[in-house]
Amino acid sequence: MLVDSHCHLDFPGLADNLAEVFAAMRRNGVGCAVCVGVTLEDFPRVVALAEANARILATVGVHPEIHEAREPGVDELVRLAAHPKVIGIGETGLDYHWHKDAPEWQRERFRVHIRAARQTGKPLIVHDREAAADVLRLLEEEKAGEVGGILHCFTGTWEVAQRALDLGFHISLSGIVTFKNARIVKEVACRVPLDRLLVETDSPYLAPVPFRGKPNQPAYVKRVAEEIAVLREMPVEAVAAATTDNFFRLFPAFRARFSDEENER
Ligand code: NI
Repeated sequence: MLVDSHCHLDFPGLADNLAEVFAAMRRNGVGCAVCVGVTLEDFPRVVALAEANARILATVGVHPEIHEAREPGVDELVRLAAHPKVIGIGETGLDYHWHKDAPEWQRERFRVHIRAARQTGKPLIVHDREAAADVLRLLEEEKAGEVGGILHCFTGTWEVAQRALDLGFHISLSGIVTFKNARIVKEVACRVPLDRLLVETDSPYLAPVPFRGKPNQPAYVKRVAEEIAVLREMPVEAVAAATTDNFFRLFPAFRARFSDEENER
């Protein structure tokens, strides 16, 4: 079984096509997908998806790219994260690509998420785009290592990966690892310890080769695992087994639920 550790099933392209999306997951052995929240306004939809589907888990957070969204407070995040299908806090982090001025509100919002994660004990789902130094600094300053989490859709260098691993974080790779020119991501895919690696789609974005240009979907996480298997010269089944086991070590409360599901199939 594979786990898609990061997708956006509530976004257009997936939300209007869920029956087919779930059927494709089943056909490709993707037993679980995490639907990651990006605003508080959208959170009811995200959590409703998780409530309605045994294979879907949810997170709560406000994405660093979205300035217009309602600003979350620690207490509110903690309260929303108490929902039994909410496994973590995020999507949070820093995005200096879309906000070249590196605004203070992003760092403040990120700190709020880390504090909420520490209060709930639920791991962080971290987005970093062109902001690795500040992402690592804030994770360290706010003692995020206490809860750990995922550096999602990782595109940083091996040095950045190492510092995140030292903090206790997991590295999640997306379809970018299948792109021909993704030399640094491919290197990271080979070097991350197998017991700290996760796979994701970040769908509906970033469809892997050979689906580039089409809408992405959780079933395609299989392509991510296949590419990592080629790079690491190991069977894809071993990549699937390891990344799924890593996921349920990070979210142990959910392991039993999904092993039961496997048996029912
Ligand atoms: Ni995302």
